[in-house]
Amino acid sequence: MTNPTTTNSGAPVASDEHSQTVGPDGVIALTDHYLVEKLAQFNRERVPERVVHAKGGGAFGTFETTHDVSAYTRASLFQPGATVQMLARFSSVAGEQGSPDTWRDPRGFALKFYTDEGNYDMVGNNTPVFFIRDGIKFPDFIHSQKRLPGSHLRDHNMQWDFWTLSPESAHQVTWLMGDRGLPTSWRHMDGFSSHTYQWINAEGERSWVKYHFRTQQGHETLTQDQADSIAGQDADLHIRDLYEAIEAENFPKWDMSVQIMKYEDAATYRFNPFDITKVWPKAEYPLIPVGTMTLNRNPENYFAQIEQATFAPSNFVPGIAASPDKMLQARIFSYADAHRYRVGTNHAQLPVNAPVSPVNSYSQDGAMRMRTNDPHAPVYAPNSFGGPAASPAAHGNDAGWEQDGSLIRSAATLHADDDDFGQAGTLFREVLDDAARDRLVSNIVGHVSAVTIPSLRERVIQYWTNVDATLGARVAAGLGPIESPVDELVPAPVSR
Ligand code: HEM
Repeated sequence: MTNPTTTNSGAPVASDEHSQTVGPDGVIALTDHYLVEKLAQFNRERVPERVVHAKGGGAFGTFETTHDVSAYTRASLFQPGATVQMLARFSSVAGEQGSPDTWRDPRGFALKFYTDEGNYDMVGNNTPVFFIRDGIKFPDFIHSQKRLPGSHLRDHNMQWDFWTLSPESAHQVTWLMGDRGLPTSWRHMDGFSSHTYQWINAEGERSWVKYHFRTQQGHETLTQDQADSIAGQDADLHIRDLYEAIEAENFPKWDMSVQIMKYEDAATYRFNPFDITKVWPKAEYPLIPVGTMTLNRNPENYFAQIEQATFAPSNFVPGIAASPDKMLQARIFSYADAHRYRVGTNHAQLPVNAPVSPVNSYSQDGAMRMRTNDPHAPVYAPNSFGGPAASPAAHGNDAGWEQDGSLIRSAATLHADDDDFGQAGTLFREVLDDAARDRLVSNIVGHVSAVTIPSLRERVIQYWTNVDATLGARVAAGLGPIESPVDELVPAPVSR
């Protein structure tokens, strides 16, 4: 016998098909509380989608530390033999929920490790670098990739306008326009912290670290034509691929390794090691193996466990801390703020976000509070009633570096090689092979073909010439005439 339907408060309901009416064709009665509840609940099913990375999917799994990196970090999850439960969410950046998984875009690579010392979140991408190096530009950058306010259309003029006016984007745009901008699936891509973080060992010694997650499935990427046609056939290809692989017990795995820079080397390194538009050459900072992540459990409920999952670069655990990267500093504010807005101030109490370690915080109340404080303990610190007390020793877990100077707004350079185009040029000349270079040129030409402003096209050609003269010439040669040129940029909107 099936269970009787009930209202949200548990009372049995008479019908799921017929509203209560005055006679067979009469008006509906407001006293039909079940009808009202059903419609009202439906109207409230959505929380705001993520302002970026709205389209995504994920799965649970485990991370096992197989190598000894205790010389660099005391983080319990990275001690030899440690195994922790975790959650991964992969995503595209600019598209809304429902957008095709195969639009050219970086892919999010967000990880939450449920450790015995709190949750550690590593919120990275499938690229080791980023478009900008100062968080103050992030809203502008995203606005250039999203939609025009009037037409609500994405616009290549906007995208290339922003990129060419922001030359620090060149390295990431080279990745984006290359093969890695179209992974075949989330299983077939690598993940990176992109940022430099600080690791602290048991002796309190600090070093700088970048994380790499290399796919064991191998790299597989789509051509632009394949991606375009899949977008019309299976917009959810990447969600489906991950879900079906895990259902078939074909569990995807990634090997994590790190690059470590000595704490004192950062000040004199030839470029700013905290600049997220740069990679650290592996010849100088080789990969040091750490462990393996395996995704082996699909969510039982997408909304509760993936949509409401909140990943924050501010979720550190002892042994892992922030660095002077300006972008990271902005992100440390931005994500927790987004979570309070998008999911609610008590988002960390939802099962998917709650740590497995004890929470002894003095926060209280707020919408949707589920976990209550000890009824006999006061909710303030310090107190004389034996409530939780902060431990001064935990200060050693705080990020730490020397800093002094006046408050300024500047991109002043202290390192000899702090340029914008050098590493993009190296990627083009030394990392890509001939076939990958051909595809890069073809992808750029295809994308820039939708740029309709002649002066902007010139700027785009100059941008790629700055990366590499041959690349610039090949892009220029590949571009045909503009079909419907627009003489000027659309005038700046006036707010009304
Ligand atoms: C999502 C802001 C740079 C990776 C988000 C969200 C915000 C945000 C507000 C939505 C969070 C939510 O609603 O749950 C920013 C700002 C940045 C920045 C202000 C620059 C200052 C980056 C960088 C990376 C990155 C450099 C990668 C290295 C991600 C990922 C997500 C995300 C993977 C999706 C997380 C998830 O799956 O829930 N970002 N972001 N972001 N961001 Fe960023």
